[in-house]
Amino acid sequence: MALGTVLITGGTGYIGSFTTLALLEHGYEVVIVDSLYNSSKVALDRIELICGKRPAFYEVDITDEEALDKVFAAHPNIDSVIHFAALKAVGESSEIPLEYYRVNVGGSIALLRSMAKHSVPNIVFSSSATVYGDATRVPNMIPIPEHCPIGPTNPYGRTKSTIELVITDFIESQRNNAKKAGKPFEQWNGALLRYFNPCGSHPSGIMGEDPSGIPFNLLPLLGQVATGQREKLLVFGDDYPSRDGTAIRDYIHVVDLAKGHLAALNHLREKKPGVRAWNLGSGRGSTVFEMINAFSKVVGRPLKYEVVERRAGDVLDLTANPARANEELGWKTELTLEDACDDLWRWVSNNPKGYRQDPPAALLDA
Ligand code: NAD
Ligand code: WQD
Repeated sequence: MALGTVLITGGTGYIGSFTTLALLEHGYEVVIVDSLYNSSKVALDRIELICGKRPAFYEVDITDEEALDKVFAAHPNIDSVIHFAALKAVGESSEIPLEYYRVNVGGSIALLRSMAKHSVPNIVFSSSATVYGDATRVPNMIPIPEHCPIGPTNPYGRTKSTIELVITDFIESQRNNAKKAGKPFEQWNGALLRYFNPCGSHPSGIMGEDPSGIPFNLLPLLGQVATGQREKLLVFGDDYPSRDGTAIRDYIHVVDLAKGHLAALNHLREKKPGVRAWNLGSGRGSTVFEMINAFSKVVGRPLKYEVVERRAGDVLDLTANPARANEELGWKTELTLEDACDDLWRWVSNNPKGYRQDPPAALLDA
């Protein structure tokens, strides 16, 4: 018998597809809603190829509360939601902030309303380390613990910190209302998962990040340099006060990140902690130059780059203190940066068109 049934919003996207896979592999049933705005249904085929199970799928926009109602009504066993669906381009969020608030905040409110109507009590939310903003502004906050003051520096980050507050208020009110009505209240719980820099692909080489537009994160861009789709990487500043002048980030393998969701979900269902934030990171910071070197090593040749001006809004150091997740969720990263580079290279070199082409037969037979 399944451990439970989980609704995953944004489940055909990058982190959502890996989390779907992890849940299916660990005995959960999964129902996905996704508008396919930044993903494709091919992700479902790859999930099935890897684990032999296929999640239920609905092409639904999370801002459409009625459509969400229908999905919950069709799957009365759903007792938890993992909520990934969002717009996530930091730069774009400054250009069209209202669209970011409409989809990210409005969509989350529609989802919570629908959960309340169908008595679905657990939510695991995709937050981001970006909610901390520049943690170096506060003394002794690197590596960043969850009690670091929140201070996002762009509209995207502010949608995430706003949703954290909305979820906190929602779960508290559900608990209080249930208590007043003399009903069990402990089952209402929320996990706010603040991811650092997700990267990497599935070790099989058949599942990875396949955004609809141009990637803007460091590793996918490096992947494009390695496959010749891009001439060089532009390094945004080498004048930071770091060990080599470039900015520091905490890169976390997406397979580890997916397991973090499983750990948080199990924790909510078993320990019923109310609402709690957890950092999902490795605790290890790497500079841009270190990432270029690590990926070049895997590719087997130096990758071309050029140092340019700092990117507006970038901060010096976003390294997690993951102690709370390590202790409370019993979760820690197991894969290394080298694993992430290795897996990313297997993915991009074998699938230069992402999900728009079949993977090489050799990978399918492996
Ligand atoms: P992604 O774009 O690959 O996945 C998001 C999914 O949501 C996509 O499949 C997209 O089609 C879907 N979606 C977008 N708008 C929708 C809507 N209105 N209705 C239904 N579905 C919709 O992104 P990802 O990298 O997998 O990120 C997943 C979540 O994690 C997002 O909430 C993102 O903000 C958060 N996050 C990502 C990172 C990162 O670097 N990738 C870091 C921290 C937090
Ligand atoms: C990493 C480092 C860049 C590209 C972003 C979002 C954050 C979260 C994760 C969603 C930085 C440098 C990058 C390039 C470069 N997403 N870089 N040249 O900015 O840490 O975080 O993704 O929540 O909210 O802001 O990630 O991969 O863009 O950059 O030099 O072409 O690589 O300056 O130091 P970032 P990133």
